[in-house]
Amino acid sequence: MDMTTPLVEMRDISIAFGGIKAVDAVSVDLKAGEVVGLLGHNGAGKSTLIKILSGAYQADSGEIRVGGELVSIGSPRDAKRHGIETIYQTLALADNVDAAANIFLGRELLTPWHTLDDSTMEAETRKVMGRLNPHFRRFKEPVKALSGGQRQSVAIARAIYFNARVLIMDEPTAALGPAETKQVAELILELKRQGIGIFLISHDLHDVFDLADRVSVMKNGRVVGTARTSDVTQDEVLGMIISGKCPTGAVPGPGALRD
Ligand SMILES: Nc1ncnc2c1ncn2[C@@H]1O[C@H](COP(=O)(O)OP(=O)(O)OP(=O)(O)O)[C@@H](O)[C@H]1O
Ligand SMILES: [Mg+2]
Repeated sequence: MDMTTPLVEMRDISIAFGGIKAVDAVSVDLKAGEVVGLLGHNGAGKSTLIKILSGAYQADSGEIRVGGELVSIGSPRDAKRHGIETIYQTLALADNVDAAANIFLGRELLTPWHTLDDSTMEAETRKVMGRLNPHFRRFKEPVKALSGGQRQSVAIARAIYFNARVLIMDEPTAALGPAETKQVAELILELKRQGIGIFLISHDLHDVFDLADRVSVMKNGRVVGTARTSDVTQDEVLGMIISGKCPTGAVPGPGALRD
């Protein structure tokens, strides 16, 4: 794989629930070290699209390529095998145990005597957390005692420790205050520096505009358009979200209206 091959390409992806086309012929892609924001109103199809990538849903039609190779993602396990990890809004952490226990939950390291290798797990946790959040000191505390931003960094550490190359974050800051939102933004920039590609889902334009290299706007299951954030203004992107019209600085999705 060369540097220009996208980490992930989703092509012509569709899925319907009952008669409703939740995702309708959507194409998006993501390159190494890139943050792509997926924007759109409630019900636009953002979460459904990324659930197809994370293996929670199977598309009715369309193709997914990872590193240029056609793959079939039938389960979350398949997605992880392809280096695709998802951070859900709920974070799905085990509240009563510490950071190390969370990072290695279900994938515990064992000593040659088949006992839990707590010291190696703690040392590895310090290493991976050090890459993400060097000020973090609360290694011995249950994660329920941590701040929202610290919990977020534990969830991300769990994903990247197992070699994720693609991280999906669905509304990562929805439940966080301003200071914690800033902390998550710093985490995202750090992951980007490490070459990880990130799909950042939000319905808040301001949350993603500063962080994203590109944005794709969805409406009623379709892509309105995709643009580099350097080629469009926030007002233009807001117009895409609201009116579904694509400005000149953006590439329209199939069937999109031109502004
Ligand atoms: N499991 C499901 N069964 C039936 N309909 C579904 C299911 N999941 C999603 N939908 C429908 O698909 C459409 C897209 O929903 P989705 O959750 O992807 O939107 P979203 O863009 O993530 O919105 P939000 O910003 O509110 O999170 C909606 O009409 C929703 O009701
Ligand atoms: Mg959603």
